[in-house]
Amino acid sequence: MGTAVTDAAPFVPYDDDQLASFGLQRDMIPRHVAVIMDGNGRWAKARGLSRSEGHARGAEVARAVGEEAAKVGCEQITLYCLSSENWKRPAAELDQLFGLLQSYLTSEREHVLDSNFRFTTVGRREGLPERTLRHLDEMTELTAGRDGLNLCLALNYGSRDELVDAARSVAADVAAGRLAIDAIDESVFASKLYTAGMPDPDLVIRTAGEMRLSNFLLWQNSYAEFWVTETCWPDFGADGFRGALVDYAGRTRRFGGLDG
Ligand code: IPE
Ligand code: IPE
Ligand code: MG
Repeated sequence: MGTAVTDAAPFVPYDDDQLASFGLQRDMIPRHVAVIMDGNGRWAKARGLSRSEGHARGAEVARAVGEEAAKVGCEQITLYCLSSENWKRPAAELDQLFGLLQSYLTSEREHVLDSNFRFTTVGRREGLPERTLRHLDEMTELTAGRDGLNLCLALNYGSRDELVDAARSVAADVAAGRLAIDAIDESVFASKLYTAGMPDPDLVIRTAGEMRLSNFLLWQNSYAEFWVTETCWPDFGADGFRGALVDYAGRTRRFGGLDG
C-alpha cells in the first residue's frame, strides 16, 4: 500500500487537443466538482481485505483524482473525507483514518507546495487531532493566495453543522448591532458558511452507487448536477473522473428557467 508520491513529476495541464481526445472542451469543464468518495469498505470486503486497506487505497485515488482535476482545469475540487456522522464508526477505524490523513499531509506536503494548488478545508475543527490541525493550518497558510486548483478537503464536515454555525454567526451579528435583520439575504448567509468565497459545486460525483447526499454541501449543491457510479472509490481514477465530466458536458442546466 502507499505509492511514493514525493518523486511524482509536476503535472502539466491538458491542452485543448488533449481535452478533445477525451471528448472534453474547455468551456464545458465544471468550475467546482464535489466528490463523495464512498465504497472503500465494500471494495476491501469484496477482495477479502481489511477496511483499512480499502481506506489506504482510497487515499491514493484521492491524490490521483485531485491531480486530474487540476489537469483538466477545474477551479476547485472538494473531497468528502470525513463526515460529522462518521464519528459513529469504531475508534480503531477513525484512528486509522486520521493516521492516513496525517501521512497524506506529510507525503503530499512537498507536492502541494511544488504545484500551484491552494489547499483549504471545510468542516468543524472540534474533534480533529491537534497535530492534524497544525498540518492543515500550515498547508492552508502556505498556499493561500495561489491561483491554481483549490484542493478542498471536507473533514469532520456536516451540512447541518455548517448551517447551524452560520445561523449562530448571523444571530451574533444581529445581536451586536452589526447587521440588520432586513439585510440578511442569500449572499450574507453564504458568507457565513465554511465555503465562503468558494463557487458552488457544478457537479457532484458519488462512487459506490448510493443515491444520497449524506449531509454534504446541502446549501451549495442546490443546483449541482449529480453523477453516480457503481464503481467503488478505490477503483475510481482519472478515467472515471473524466467520464463524469463528459457526461456533465451533455447536461442542460436550467436553474429554474426555460431552455434556450
Ligand atoms: C468511504 O468509504 C470513506 C469514508 C466514509 C471515510 P466507506 O468506509 O464508507 O466504505 P463503505 O461504504 O463501507 O463501502
Ligand atoms: C459519505 O459516506 C461520507 C464520506 C464519503 C466521507 P458514508 O459512507 O458515510 O455515507 P452513508 O453512511 O452511506 O450515507
Ligand atoms: Mg460508505
